[in-house]
Amino acid sequence: MAEPLKVLVTGAAGQIAYSLLFSVGKGDVFGQDQPIILVLLDIPPMMGVLEGVVMELNDCSLPLVKGIICTHDLEEAFTGIDVAFMVGAMPRREGMERKDLLKANVKIFKQQGEALDKFAKKDVKVLVVGNPANTNACICAKYAPSIPKENFSAMTRLDQNRAQSLVANRLGVPNSDVWNVIIWGNHSSTQFPDVQHAKVKIGGEDKNAFEAVKDDSWLKNEFVSTVQKRGAAIIAARKLSSAMSAAKAACDHIRDWWNGTQEVGFNFQSIFSINLIFLKN
Ligand SMILES: NC(=O)c1ccc[n+]([C@@H]2O[C@H](COP(=O)([O-])OP(=O)(O)OC[C@H]3O[C@@H](n4cnc5c(N)ncnc54)[C@H](O)[C@@H]3O)[C@@H](O)[C@H]2O)c1
Repeated sequence: MAEPLKVLVTGAAGQIAYSLLFSVGKGDVFGQDQPIILVLLDIPPMMGVLEGVVMELNDCSLPLVKGIICTHDLEEAFTGIDVAFMVGAMPRREGMERKDLLKANVKIFKQQGEALDKFAKKDVKVLVVGNPANTNACICAKYAPSIPKENFSAMTRLDQNRAQSLVANRLGVPNSDVWNVIIWGNHSSTQFPDVQHAKVKIGGEDKNAFEAVKDDSWLKNEFVSTVQKRGAAIIAARKLSSAMSAAKAACDHIRDWWNGTQEVGFNFQSIFSINLIFLKN
């Protein structure tokens, strides 16, 4: 068996991590032959909750999990890691201005970027999930100058999965039969889900999405706004933000980045969106 990979999840006591840790632990991301050591980072007040998460992970009895490190210490969390799922972030509270949210997150991602720079492997792959994800990824990369910029990405895979599934449901085909959907812009309501190059396998043929859907108005209007507003719709319904789907998207993102994409389902935009930030800066 291969040497275990050291996989860090920040915000490990939170709701996304609750689904994410299980999926990573059972081999959905790195495969069934790859053992892992899970490193769980959260803030000191959450250590009690984290203990409960560790109890549950142990009770899952996952054969690939060779060790679990549970900490609030940055050096312990970031030392020798191969992959970082950066999920923990300061949430926007009622009455909080956008600039206050940014200020709080700059502090977190500056410290964590510095810790990556000092303690992580130089080829570590970093996925930032915590919002504002694109800005946080940019800050993190800035403070980790010894790690190549292309090793940082922000998660827009959830938006991509949402777009892909909307088209698939509209046509009554499996999600895997829709590919090349692109998300332009940041993970926010200003993003643009683009199906100009999307393909659909339908009736034994590969068709362009517009040709398959046969409703340009739906693709140009309702489809776009549904994807843009999906996060808000989930909060309105669940009274909590997307967690299961966000964890699945984080797994999809790292799995495709780590292993390469399959022949059908060419998914490059999550990585592309962060590269756009670097071009601008
Ligand atoms: N990019 C996306 O598509 C996407 C989708 C859904 C949610 N999100 C974002 O993901 C983040 C996490 O969501 P959640 O639902 O799991 O939130 P949550 O509040 O349930 O969990 C967040 C966890 O992060 C921890 N945390 C806060 N500051 C930390 C720090 N400095 N170091 C380590 N841990 C820290 C908290 O203690 C908490 O346990 C949020 O910012 C959310 O907006 C992004």
